[in-house]
Amino acid sequence: MRIDIVSVFPEYFDVLNLSLFGKAQAKGLLEVATHNLRDWTHDVHHSVDDTPVGGGAGMVMKPEVWAECLDELLGPDELLGSQPSVLIFPNPSAPLFTQRDATELSRASHLLFGCGRYEGYDARIPEYYRAQGVDVREYSIGDYVLNGGEVATSVMLEAITRLIPDFMGNPESIVEESYTGEGALLEHRQYTKPAEWRGLRVPDVLLSGDHGKVDRFRRDEALARTDKIRPDLIETLDCTQLDKADRKT
Ligand code: ADE
Repeated sequence: MRIDIVSVFPEYFDVLNLSLFGKAQAKGLLEVATHNLRDWTHDVHHSVDDTPVGGGAGMVMKPEVWAECLDELLGPDELLGSQPSVLIFPNPSAPLFTQRDATELSRASHLLFGCGRYEGYDARIPEYYRAQGVDVREYSIGDYVLNGGEVATSVMLEAITRLIPDFMGNPESIVEESYTGEGALLEHRQYTKPAEWRGLRVPDVLLSGDHGKVDRFRRDEALARTDKIRPDLIETLDCTQLDKADRKT
């Protein structure tokens, strides 16, 4: 997968060379490039923003600068619609980014992230590229406002890239996690050894060696925790995702 990130603070992404992300680049699974949006400006001040039309506080990112940059990074093929790039703009006023989106995007061959700052970017930027046939997505990572799209991009990138085959050392670890798998439930709690620590015991069933009972216990706990902590997720479960023995919680 090729990943391009455009930002006025590309240094934010220096950390991408660390950890599994760095290893994935070394293994050739990922090819990552960061770009400074100001490199596509032509004025002495390298300005990327202007005051909002219609009034209001803050500054809005200009479409001309973004377009020069995005035209170059998408390339002529993309603008002709023959290269499957996905152009992603983090935006607090957009639909919520979910595990489902991460799974879908982990199969893309090229992701291009455009990190906005200030009061955001001119609305015609995504509109223009959509009209050219580009797959454009705008996503919020949660109901809070950050100073820009850089942190949101990092969050989405981590959620997406860890789902790429061979990215994780142990691929099974992603199967059972919260929000994935059959029912999009929160995950059951985890324990390791010792069986007793500071007077607190691991639940006996987990020590029983009976895999059927262990699976049932974990499933019941996942359902109960989801019902308590994220009832909104239970409401979106369809009946086919519940097995016969699932307790009504
Ligand atoms: N930019 C600022 N806040 C954001 C959020 N919550 N999600 C995505 N992009 C953002």
